[in-house]
Amino acid sequence: MLSLAVMGSGKGSNFQSILDAIREGRLEARVACVLSDVADAFILERARGAGVPAIHVDGAPFKTKLEGVAEDRVLRILRDHGADSIALAGFMRIVKPKLIGAFRHRMVNIHPSLLPAFPGLHAWKQALEYGARVAGCTVHFVDEGTDTGPIIVQRPVGVLDTDTPETLHARIQEQEHLAYPEALQLLSAGRLRVEGRRVVRV
Ligand code: GAR
Repeated sequence: MLSLAVMGSGKGSNFQSILDAIREGRLEARVACVLSDVADAFILERARGAGVPAIHVDGAPFKTKLEGVAEDRVLRILRDHGADSIALAGFMRIVKPKLIGAFRHRMVNIHPSLLPAFPGLHAWKQALEYGARVAGCTVHFVDEGTDTGPIIVQRPVGVLDTDTPETLHARIQEQEHLAYPEALQLLSAGRLRVEGRRVVRV
């Protein structure tokens, strides 16, 4: 059974899919706490609504990374809430080695592309502009690179000629909401072994 900290900066639809999967018995986990670097992010409101501790962590003085005082605060909060794993769910800051090292192979991220294609920001837009015919999403362990960690689950999404960034992202999100609980359940059940950069299911 995972004791999960969910970290996000936005609307928290992936967090919702995790909660739903727990309620429906598809994911053996408890959500220990939800953290956001954005004070008014909807993910915090969802957490409060679900009775989950919801905590804002100010990332200052940095804008795009989680380091220094804020990183130490996150580590303290995770310890105080008994979190043994982290799910990054639309967390828009780069996590740094101290946190990554403390949760090696216990921190996962969801990314809106079929990695290693289109790492970084607005991946669905990158795929559309590139002319990719297949987009998708990836759940992976977090390592020190940007969207480079060992891949756990991927789900493809066909690109339509009529797609806009919004319509493509919406279809990718439908697949994210299936992929994330599936990947977390594999972790929860102890079925993932990392061999080099490959994840093997045991
Ligand atoms: C998701 O599409 C997720 O893949 C993406 O942010 C969105 C968060 O949505 N993450 C990244 O782009 C990370 N590089 P949500 O707040 O509704 O879960």
